Amino acid sequence: MNAEVDENEKRSAAAEAGAGLLLEVENLRVSFSGVNIVDGLSFSLSPGEILGIVGESGSGKSMTALSIMRLLPKNGVIAADRLRLNGEDLLGASDARLEELRGASMGMIFQEPMTALNPVLTVGDQIMETVRRHLKVGRREARERGIEALRRVGIPSPEQRMDDFPHRLSGGMRQRVMIAMALICRPRLLIADEPTTALDVTVQAQILDLMLDLQDEYKMGIILISHDLGVVSAFTDRVMIMYLGQVLEDAKAETIFSQPLHPYTEGLLASIPPVDRDEERLEAIRGTVPPIFDLPPGCRFEPRCGYARPACATAVPSLVECQPAHRAACIRNTGYEFLQEISR
Ligand SMILES: Nc1ncnc2c1ncn2[C@@H]1O[C@H](COP(=O)(O)OP(=O)(O)O)[C@@H](O)[C@H]1O
Ligand code: SF4
Ligand SMILES: [Mg+2]
Repeated sequence: MNAEVDENEKRSAAAEAGAGLLLEVENLRVSFSGVNIVDGLSFSLSPGEILGIVGESGSGKSMTALSIMRLLPKNGVIAADRLRLNGEDLLGASDARLEELRGASMGMIFQEPMTALNPVLTVGDQIMETVRRHLKVGRREARERGIEALRRVGIPSPEQRMDDFPHRLSGGMRQRVMIAMALICRPRLLIADEPTTALDVTVQAQILDLMLDLQDEYKMGIILISHDLGVVSAFTDRVMIMYLGQVLEDAKAETIFSQPLHPYTEGLLASIPPVDRDEERLEAIRGTVPPIFDLPPGCRFEPRCGYARPACATAVPSLVECQPAHRAACIRNTGYEFLQEISR
């Protein structure tokens, strides 16, 4: 259990490379009407690293992304011990500063581009608006940059597409427009929240490949969010497994795949369909995610866990570094010494 040593190693490695951590998140909490839907999340991202966040629907992935962007719905309350981008505090930043950072330093791609694109403005007007807000260039140059950005994301005849309204484009093309808009100012952090869920398998692979190509070119850090562990582990360096607002496990992508420690991760892996059968999903995790306002008292996964012991129902397992750079929250790996008695 060498969490401190590893954290120090990670920091000094980053310092040696001449750059600190791109994103630091410590004890992030998001609540609605007093209910914590993100509950004590801690993780970091190095420049150029690709982190996957995986979990079933309702685990708090989107709320985590929106908290980093500081775009939570108005009734959401955010708190954290630390939330920093490039060393800059995002929690204390003014609205004007956040407006500058979004686009220029951090960009986000949403699951359904129609909710993010304005249906009554042409693709070109929307891209040019983003360019002009951040880069202070004239209309003609903004248009040229917009066309170039559309070309870069593989949109055919970009000059013509600039004058189209979003509904004229296919789902895959709209998602390419979103990527172009998110990346046009070359942010150092890109958050992609289920960017391919609405697309068919072939287009999905094309979009993810495109993101990897751009990552290689721009060297940005990426957070790729998905409910699909198969998709995420193929495209990321590290994977963080979320369940009901908390991290249950995180490790290098290949480690998660070959040596998962948490029963929930095992279940997610078992439900990845075999490559030769595209559509079929196995129901490997029994039961459903309980409502966030009615959590089990001990380990949150206990009602669905095939390995549960009596202690799991009455005490909460801490997230512990079980092996170097591999954290898990389960007494099967951490032992009883890392159980916290319930205080609520
Ligand atoms: N505007 C909102 N007000 C209150 N609760 C919300 C709101 N949006 C989402 N939630 C709740 O927050 C939890 C996490 O949601 P979300 O982050 O969207 O999960 P995921 O992206 O992992 O599917 C869910 O229980 C959801 O019902
Ligand atoms: S702590 Fe217990 S209930 Fe929770 S995942 Fe581990 S074995 Fe299962
Ligand atoms: Mg979501």
